[in-house]
Amino acid sequence: MIATGTAPARLGPRLRHLLELCPEEYPVADVGSGHGRLALELARRRPGAEVYATEARPGPARELRRLLGPSSPVLVLEGPGLEPLQGLGCRGAVIAGMGGHTIREILQASPALALGLDWLCLQPMQDWEPLWSWVTGSGWWDPQGTSCRERSRIYRTLLLRPR
Ligand SMILES: C[S@@+](CC[C@H](N)C(=O)[O-])C[C@H]1O[C@@H](n2cnc3c(N)ncnc32)[C@H](O)[C@@H]1O
Repeated sequence: MIATGTAPARLGPRLRHLLELCPEEYPVADVGSGHGRLALELARRRPGAEVYATEARPGPARELRRLLGPSSPVLVLEGPGLEPLQGLGCRGAVIAGMGGHTIREILQASPALALGLDWLCLQPMQDWEPLWSWVTGSGWWDPQGTSCRERSRIYRTLLLRPR
C-alpha cells in the first residue's frame, strides 16, 4: 500500500509540480492513475471531496485498488480514457505519464466529456510537441504550459481551460 491514515504519499518533483498545477475544483479524476499517488494527494488536499482514479484494464485497476488499500478515500474506476467519468460530474481531470499521442487519442475519443470539464492537466512523458500542436490547433481550450525537472529530465505540463 502507498499510504495509510494521514501519512503523505511520496511524490517526486514531476508529480508535485502536477499537483500544484491542478486547480482546487473538485470532483476530479486521475486518468491512468497507475500507482495512485497523485490521486491520493488530490484527495488529501480536499478531505471529503470526490476523487476518482481510473485504469483502462482490469489488471492495472486491481493493482491500483491494492496499492490504495481498502480504506482509501480515492474511488477506483475501470475503463478507457475519460469514459468511466460519464455522469459523475467531474470538474477536472489529470492525464499524465502516457505519450502525447495517447493523450490526444483519449481526448479525441470523448469530446463531450473532455469539453464538459472545467480544467484538464496533461503531462505527457514524450511527444509533447504534437500534443501541443493539436491542442492549440483545436481551438477548444486556452492552454497554459509549464515545465519541471526531475533528475536530468524536463517534463512539460499543460493546464487547459475551455474557451
Ligand atoms: C506510466 S503510468 C502513469 C501513472 C501516473 N499517471 C503518473 O503520471 O505517474 C501510465 C498508466 O496509464 C494507464 N493507461 C494507458 N492508457 C490508458 C487509457 N487509454 N485509459 C486509462 N488508462 C490508461 C496505464 O495502464 C498505466 O497505468
